[in-house]
Amino acid sequence: MLDKNKLEKFNQQHIYEYEKLMSTNEKQALEEKIETLDLEDIQKMYNNLYVNRQTIDDTSDVSEVKYSVKSNMDNETINTYKEQGIEAIRNGQFAVVLMAGGQGTRLGYSGPKGSFEIEGVSLFELQARQLIDLKEQSGHTIDWYIMTSDINHEATKDYFAQHNYFKYDPEKIHFFKQDNIVALSEAGQLVLNETGHIMETPNGNGGIFKSLKKAGYLDKMKQDNVKYVFLNNIDNVLVKVLDPMFAGFTVANNKDITSKTIQPKHGESVGRLVNKDSKDTVLEYSELDPNIANQFENANIGIHAFKLGFIMSAVDRELPYHIAIKNLKQLDEDFGVIEQPTLKFELFYFDIFRYGTSFITLQVPREEEFSPLKNKEGKDSVETATADLKRMNMI
Ligand code: UD1
Repeated sequence: MLDKNKLEKFNQQHIYEYEKLMSTNEKQALEEKIETLDLEDIQKMYNNLYVNRQTIDDTSDVSEVKYSVKSNMDNETINTYKEQGIEAIRNGQFAVVLMAGGQGTRLGYSGPKGSFEIEGVSLFELQARQLIDLKEQSGHTIDWYIMTSDINHEATKDYFAQHNYFKYDPEKIHFFKQDNIVALSEAGQLVLNETGHIMETPNGNGGIFKSLKKAGYLDKMKQDNVKYVFLNNIDNVLVKVLDPMFAGFTVANNKDITSKTIQPKHGESVGRLVNKDSKDTVLEYSELDPNIANQFENANIGIHAFKLGFIMSAVDRELPYHIAIKNLKQLDEDFGVIEQPTLKFELFYFDIFRYGTSFITLQVPREEEFSPLKNKEGKDSVETATADLKRMNMI
């Protein structure tokens, strides 16, 4: 039996209304789930992130990061980095981690975003091809770690199997799942999903470090003598997965965190890489006053290399949650299906930067390295991604 006082104390008394419409088994399942939740923590998170929400409008303590610009480098420097990169890849110093647990709601596509095909080539295939190419250049097959979530894990694995792993070595592809966290109504109450269970959603891409650890993959990387972990998003169709020049730049500078950025456009929906309290960090576009965002020169494009030793030292530390409001399907109190604004809680991977002590950034040309597939139409859409892939002779 649920503790009535506790439910009332934490504003979850509506659960009793749901229970009136449930079978004994459904009630039992619901109660068992609720017993596992820390309602006090959930209420605190709701109050901090929603009731008392703030946008970042004071950046007096924020400055530009120190960065190198690739297009200012001479060919000799670039070639030296490339050679160093290939050498490090050959020696197994790099692992590649792909974040592919997100939902792709804006694209209006229900499958895993990586399985979205442009002229018959999926986003997963675009990335696999590059790893195959690196194998040809270096002689080493890089371990590829792919983060999924409950919403797309099976579908992702099936898609890879159906496509014969894009001819990559299946033993070198490692899928692991991120965790979930409860979603809440705008009144701070737990919500039932369409199947009548407490609604949970993927806990944001910042779940990546703990999920890698839980799956045993940080230990595996250590045993394999990996020194750097390259990380990228699924949806940038021009992403250069572990390009040798960036790999060499990482090795030569040997910082906790190496980031690749581009020059942002005015008003663009991208995080800004900045320096705050002597640490590099990302101010996320969804939380930032646009006038302030426009003052900074480096857009986060989700491409980084971390020292494995740094990840291992920071993985058990806390990261803050952020909030997003999304229209999600759910049951109302009469068990009709409705769609309404719902609070999703997300960790951001770049919040781990606060535990780092050394940083370096390489700014690269947008035309060569960034074309995200975010929307159905207009900006950053199927149309723009297709045009950019053709321009770069990738499809
Ligand atoms: C992200 C960056 C933003 C950057 C932009 C560039 C974050 C929090 N923000 O924004 O700073 O300017 O990309 O395109 O990363 N993902 C998961 N699990 C989740 C949520 C997301 O694996 O629970 C993955 C997605 O599949 C994707 C990546 O993380 O590969 C980025 O997530 P997305 O929601 O697309 O972030 P953006 O808002 O585009």
